[in-house]
Amino acid sequence: MRKFLRRAVAPKDRPPRAASGGGHVPVDPGAPPGQCPVHHGPPGQSSGGWGESGRDPDALHREAEEFLRLFHHEQPTAGGPAALTARIAAVYAEIDATGTYRHTPAELAHGARVAWRNSNRCIGRLYWHSLRVRDRRDVHDADTMAVEAVAHLREATNGGRIRPVITVFAPDAPGRRGPRIWNEQLVRYAGYTAPCGSGSTGDPRNTGITAYAQRLGWPGGHGTPFDVLPLVIQGSDDKPRWFELPADAVLEVPLSHPDGDCVDDLGLRWHAVPAIANMCLEIGGVCYPAAPFNGWYMGTEIGARDLGDTDRYDLLPAVAARLGLDTSSDRTLWKDRALVELNRAVLHSFDRAGVTLADHHTESQRFLTHLGREEEKGRRVGADWSWIVPPISSCATQVFHRTYDPVQLKPAFVHHPEALVRARGEDTAF
Ligand code: ARG
Repeated sequence: MRKFLRRAVAPKDRPPRAASGGGHVPVDPGAPPGQCPVHHGPPGQSSGGWGESGRDPDALHREAEEFLRLFHHEQPTAGGPAALTARIAAVYAEIDATGTYRHTPAELAHGARVAWRNSNRCIGRLYWHSLRVRDRRDVHDADTMAVEAVAHLREATNGGRIRPVITVFAPDAPGRRGPRIWNEQLVRYAGYTAPCGSGSTGDPRNTGITAYAQRLGWPGGHGTPFDVLPLVIQGSDDKPRWFELPADAVLEVPLSHPDGDCVDDLGLRWHAVPAIANMCLEIGGVCYPAAPFNGWYMGTEIGARDLGDTDRYDLLPAVAARLGLDTSSDRTLWKDRALVELNRAVLHSFDRAGVTLADHHTESQRFLTHLGREEEKGRRVGADWSWIVPPISSCATQVFHRTYDPVQLKPAFVHHPEALVRARGEDTAF
């Protein structure tokens, strides 16, 4: 265990912050944890899942119809007005008979892709159409889900040429809740709190889920700062259980600096695939609570936020020390300089390992291309300025110098409040 990775216990999650309206808004210290949808509060768009008695049928009719209209409009192969009318009638009848309805595979695939397109906090949406959709809606049990999660990681990792993938497990339905993955992402590093409560090793963000996995019987890893957590999965009619990820399913990149040694001896690494696992995919009023999805990383997510934030790995002082910077005052800009070098190390190391990773300049350009394309198609694009703008060198990217439409369209990935509670390793009432 290295000294630099021992730190004070993480502060409690900060409250959600308001989306900034745009323009030159300073990024406040409660900034979101990354570029894609990991957030601290419900966006207020959730259908809210199923109560004991299921969804209100009228609301479900409406949401289903709205989605089917979008699907038929955007996917001409789905059939013209007559096919749409017939499909709406069939879905209404299915809802009346069963309290829910089943998407066709094509509806599911398009719905999942559009949910990515509608992720207001994601800068990487240009390639929304390329999302590979693994339809596993018949899977309810934790054992099969664990196998499928591993298969997802292998398909997404693809030897380093990261592919955007989603695996969709069983939806919530009246009388039977869908399964859940408790982890925030398929791959996360454990955070161990010292017994006296005076410090922690690893990622402080994950101390809750780490302790919970241990309460379930996980013996813990080797106690390094980068122990991969087991998956905590709850099948539909089951208690949560833990599953170790096979080492060869988790590609990791050791970090070193291209032209100095300010990082090399710190023993840093990061995982290649960011796969969000606890957001609910909502399509046409149906909630898929277990639908892990991934794109590829943008370097600043790791180099600025995961490794730099004071409530995460808090590495700027260690990097500054190795750079020989004067840290006696913030005005020497030692944090800024350390941030740049740490981010250079992330970009260099992923390149050297042949693992896909975007830089914030390229990803900003791509996002503007995405906006242009969507505008040509006559579609609205919702976006949250405070998440889109990169956490370093913001004004050197064009995404900074404009405002965005905050509209939240559907389908969408939604954080149900209870999923956030679970990701902290706290039992929910559900
Ligand atoms: N910001 C998160 C992290 O650092 C990942 C969120 C998803 N990011 C992505 N590029 N798809 O782990």
